[in-house]
Amino acid sequence: MARELPIGTLLDSADPTPARIVAPRLNRHTFWCGQSGSGKTYALGVLLEQVLLHTRLPLIVLDPNSDFVRLGDLREDAPEEDAAALAERDIRVFRRDDEKHPLHVRLLGMPLISRAAILGIDPMHDAEIYNAMLHIEPEAQSIGQGQLLPYLRGAERDVLRRFAVRLENLGVAEWSLWAWGGRSVTDDIDEEPDATVVDLGSFDTHAEFRAAALGVLDHLWENRVSRRPRLIVIDEAHNLCSPDPVDAVHALLTERIVQIAAEGRKFGLWLLLSTQRPSKVHPNALSQCDNLALMRMNSARDLEELANVFGFAPESLLARSPEFGQGQALFAGGFVPTPAVVQLASRLTHEGGIDVPVPLR
Ligand SMILES: Nc1ncnc2c1ncn2[C@@H]1O[C@H](COP(=O)(O)OP(=O)(O)O)[C@@H](O)[C@H]1O
Ligand SMILES: [Mg+2]
Repeated sequence: MARELPIGTLLDSADPTPARIVAPRLNRHTFWCGQSGSGKTYALGVLLEQVLLHTRLPLIVLDPNSDFVRLGDLREDAPEEDAAALAERDIRVFRRDDEKHPLHVRLLGMPLISRAAILGIDPMHDAEIYNAMLHIEPEAQSIGQGQLLPYLRGAERDVLRRFAVRLENLGVAEWSLWAWGGRSVTDDIDEEPDATVVDLGSFDTHAEFRAAALGVLDHLWENRVSRRPRLIVIDEAHNLCSPDPVDAVHALLTERIVQIAAEGRKFGLWLLLSTQRPSKVHPNALSQCDNLALMRMNSARDLEELANVFGFAPESLLARSPEFGQGQALFAGGFVPTPAVVQLASRLTHEGGIDVPVPLR
């Protein structure tokens, strides 16, 4: 299989010269940046298609805007050979309430601290409820869909009935996300399909969206000692990894991603974080990235920050970013032979959530 993944052509070359990503160097974390509409998601798709074609590295895509739900759907103009190879890949797309692949995770499979955050229970402020939660653990394992609230309401202990009221108010027990006794998306991830797309955009609330992401990332982290390589792709990564988390679950997600950024590499957990501005992602995740892809970005301040963090990206190339056209990007770091501006190739598969057109009369 190819070591080098063709992703487009070099912009500064007189003759058409293919631009390549060095596949073995995807074993570092990658930061993918560009202002909204610069083509990050499209370009990410170009790379992911090549990873699928030429490597056995399983992809896990946390997809907040349902942009990658058609990663397995080939465009009619895709070259025959690529189309035939891609058609054979095992690409599983998990969406809320999907018949074949419903996006479920097991609440009780998650670490206690994550579960408490999702259920809005603070170990210090809500010490009594937290403690009660600990004690119902063994029994709670067998609780099925729709049974949790009745179980708590019927409990003798007052604290459990108060727990029920709180859960009911939050609506958490009714989320379609929970697997209860059934299959979880993490069971599929463990089977190592070529790609697992987690369509976070299919949920109505940010709370459920974040809980789904936490379920997946907790699972990957807890099983890190298996050292099975994975490329964890997080589009719009600020939703999950922010210097200013909006709630306890957001804070745990940020902590988890920072931890994977700092320590995941040796376990084969490699991040690809995409976002609009460097300052939107937690600095401790940013500083661990050894690969950079930069699309159009107008803000001088953001470019300065990128220059500071990614010393390996030549400032003369960074400075060209405000002039980049559609599908143009600067690649720098270990995953390219040399820093270069690239015109990206066309997608082989369909984009999911493309821009909404203005309705015309
Ligand atoms: N290389 C390209 N060729 C054709 N269309 C593109 C290309 N890059 C982006 N687009 C289109 O531009 C729009 C914005 O791209 P998108 O990848 O969603 O940007 P971002 O993720 O940075 O907000 C989309 O409608 C997409 O189809
Ligand atoms: Mg996008």
